[in-house]
Amino acid sequence: MTIVEHKWSALPVPYAIEVPDRVRKERYYDPDFYALEAELLWPRVWQMACRLEEIPKAGDFAEYQILDQSVVVLRTEDRGVLAFQNTCRHRGVRLVEGRGTRRGGFVCPFHGWCYGTDGRNTRVTQAGAFSEHNLQPGDVDLTPVRCETWGGCAWINLDDAAPPLRECLEPVATVLDAWKVESLRAEWWYACRLPVNWKLAQEAFVEQYHVLQSHPQLRIPGRYPGRDPADFDPRAFLDAELHYLRTMSEGMGGMVHRTDVAIAEGLAEIELPADYARARAMWDRTLNDAVSRAHAERGCAVPDLNELDELGLNQPMAYGFPHFFVLPMYSSASGYRFRPLGPEETLMEIWSLTRFPEGDEPETPPVPEAWEHDDPRWPPIPAQDFSNLPRQQLGLHARSFEYMRLSERNEGHISNFHRLVDGFLAGLSYEKLLPALRQVNVNPLEMPVADMEF
Ligand code: FES
Ligand SMILES: [Fe+2]
Repeated sequence: MTIVEHKWSALPVPYAIEVPDRVRKERYYDPDFYALEAELLWPRVWQMACRLEEIPKAGDFAEYQILDQSVVVLRTEDRGVLAFQNTCRHRGVRLVEGRGTRRGGFVCPFHGWCYGTDGRNTRVTQAGAFSEHNLQPGDVDLTPVRCETWGGCAWINLDDAAPPLRECLEPVATVLDAWKVESLRAEWWYACRLPVNWKLAQEAFVEQYHVLQSHPQLRIPGRYPGRDPADFDPRAFLDAELHYLRTMSEGMGGMVHRTDVAIAEGLAEIELPADYARARAMWDRTLNDAVSRAHAERGCAVPDLNELDELGLNQPMAYGFPHFFVLPMYSSASGYRFRPLGPEETLMEIWSLTRFPEGDEPETPPVPEAWEHDDPRWPPIPAQDFSNLPRQQLGLHARSFEYMRLSERNEGHISNFHRLVDGFLAGLSYEKLLPALRQVNVNPLEMPVADMEF
């Protein structure tokens, strides 16, 4: 594509967002738009490549694939976590697949070239048969890839000029640090193959506007004040709250962790005030306090949830552009990651993350096989979201449909996200992109349309 030649200047973006609350449909299936993302977005962003419990010991590696690129993320004895392009420098064979351990480094399965855990070439078999210029020191070493660790994960970036990870992840990194996200461990890990664009897949999870219609079981009478304050029944409110927590726990496959549900059930006898606002405040405070205390007593690293509430740092969702987010609920969380497999196909992964006393952590879950979106094993809440998505991808193709009509107040994150994508596709400098990243790497659930400053 000729457009690649102008890569770092401001480029015209096809199907760009012109009116902030309208998103053109072609962005979700046009092959040229997808190709632009592959060229100008994915190689310039920090990507969550693996969870650190996947590579607990020196020599452990995990392969991360994005589009046609494969990166090997490796824990070393003395240099922390490193990453390399997963390609032998001789004739290009991928060195590893999946996950495993190579304490002594890598041996290419084709002709046996060897590389140390620092990526340095340690052996060229029959080296005398090569001319000098094909054996230049450095040139035959594995190509390093930027890698940083944060939040219990290893992150990679294919662009050496990108700002450091932390700068790109603020302000959400500060929020999640306060919540001690790095202490979470994966209890399970599932993957889903969705017949939709990777942006569409995420957008089903970043607003609450859909909840009442798509997840009717979360419409629980008694959780909210009625028209007449005299009708408020604190007993019914408490029952409704417990019902909500159980429904979320079962429905999301543990996003509200069962230990937290049990803690809440242990508070079922408390007397709440007869006024909604005071009852809500007392219940939230009591439950936060009980959760923090119970996990601390078990020996887990856990934040003081009430302290976080006071600081505005107890947030239900933390988004990391372009394809990762965490949904913290009390002690635990769900983690999500989305990777494009084609213009209209996405690999979506969900982790259930919770806290364990040190030394009591579970086995790391295996890399999941991808289930279909309608697999009966999906818990009810993601199953409901998955059932809408293929219909939406198909519906976008309707001749009469031009663009999505976003709610400026409820779906602002979707607009902000797309305009940031456009910033990358226009080849803007990091100086311009960083302020926009800060508008997107937030709790997206209540984000209005924001000024992206470019
Ligand atoms: S391709 Fe790796 S040794 Fe030949
Ligand atoms: Fe949903």
